[in-house]
Amino acid sequence: MGTELNNVDLGRVPHAVTEVDRIPAKRYYDREFYDLEVGNLWPRVWQMACRLEEIPEVGDYTVYRNLDQSIIVVRTAPDTIKAYHNHCRHRGVELVNKSGRAAGGFICPFHGWRWDKEGNNTFVFQPDAFSEQNMCKDDLALRHVKADTWGGCAWINLDEYAPPLLESLGEFGPQMDLYKVDELKVEWWYSAHLPVNWKLAMEAFMEGYHVASTHPQLLPPGATSRPGEALWLKLPEEARLGSRWLTMSPAMPDEIEPSDFIDTYIEKMTELHVGMAGMVSQEEIAVAERLRDVDLPRNPHLAMTTWRKLYNQALTDDYRERGMEIGNLDEIDAAGMASGVNFCFPHFFLLPVHGVASSYRIRPLGPEECLFELWSLKRYPKDEKRPVPVAPTPKPHDDPQWPEIPLQDYANLPRQQRGLHTGGFEFMRLSKESEGLISNYQRLIDGYIAGVPSDKLAHAAMNVSGGIDREVLDLGF
Ligand code: FES
Ligand SMILES: [Fe+2]
Repeated sequence: MGTELNNVDLGRVPHAVTEVDRIPAKRYYDREFYDLEVGNLWPRVWQMACRLEEIPEVGDYTVYRNLDQSIIVVRTAPDTIKAYHNHCRHRGVELVNKSGRAAGGFICPFHGWRWDKEGNNTFVFQPDAFSEQNMCKDDLALRHVKADTWGGCAWINLDEYAPPLLESLGEFGPQMDLYKVDELKVEWWYSAHLPVNWKLAMEAFMEGYHVASTHPQLLPPGATSRPGEALWLKLPEEARLGSRWLTMSPAMPDEIEPSDFIDTYIEKMTELHVGMAGMVSQEEIAVAERLRDVDLPRNPHLAMTTWRKLYNQALTDDYRERGMEIGNLDEIDAAGMASGVNFCFPHFFLLPVHGVASSYRIRPLGPEECLFELWSLKRYPKDEKRPVPVAPTPKPHDDPQWPEIPLQDYANLPRQQRGLHTGGFEFMRLSKESEGLISNYQRLIDGYIAGVPSDKLAHAAMNVSGGIDREVLDLGF
């Protein structure tokens, strides 16, 4: 780890992306490709290891596992998180196997050796029975893993030479900071076992192009439900305000009835609230309800901008009255952040809308299996005690208890994984305009596998992370 594979040769990558808008099918099931990801990608990237609410008190710890690596993440001081490789220095037993509080430190169940939360060895049973070299203090200390915090989460990187987390987040970090995502707390946490490659699962959330066909309930009135109309991409910037979840139809008339506009807005908020069991809260819908009688221009684009200003203010005031601060929604609108879905390379998503958000993390379990976690994140008054979130037992992808929108997304995935194997399907055909993110992060994976120098990879990762519905980018290698 940390060693540079200086021989940059993308030609050495099996099933490499050689044309930016074509993704070879074998990348989603080939064992050799998977093993290269295991060896060259995962050991060198920042991974979201846990939500900070999982370890609220000093001494609280949890275990983050990915592939064959297991890491203890522990709160050593109110604002300090540390991480260690999760093994006993004696004979390698995994030191902890679930969350807990290390009041007396970590105790190995096998022969009772102990460590404090800083990772120092504090006890060896019958130390005189061991040679001096096996009792060296430094050697017995737990092995540190690089760790940092951002956005209400603890992150780890197995590469001690990796660039700092904040740098690696690229524009994803500051953009999500606009929403004050670090103050969000877990409302619920579920997970699914998906019988698909981890990348396939992620790509279902990297473009809004599928919405018309997969989630027709989210379409605005008058919009065509013809599969594949990426409506908002054709709209002028001002029409995209607020369109992160309410797209305005190109078929929208020149004049609209303001009350119809507001009805639709509230209807779509409700669709999202029900369909995601979150992302928009009931309280946020109630604020919109209270604005039902406001006066809006009849021009649909002006109606949207006027409505957004009024709603943003009313919502900010409502949160404030309930003892909470949300991000500056006018600033977010002005930044033209048209997509509600935001990706952080390699495996994390945040989906903030107004004051609440959904979040995803995806981990590989094998070439054709992955663990997909979903959180609904809400804002709570500072003094409100929340239960400590506990890792959920994964549910099948087709469990009817899933909210409607993820259920619709999950329904496509196993079919897609099977289709990839069938004769004659060599590669996916991407839109360079709206499916560019899929190409960008896949080519970044090739960069890791090929051993592109880490400064170049870090720079590319910064550009890849951010909103979805992106165009194909030049990654600089
Ligand atoms: S393996 Fe942990 S104390 Fe022996
Ligand atoms: Fe979807």
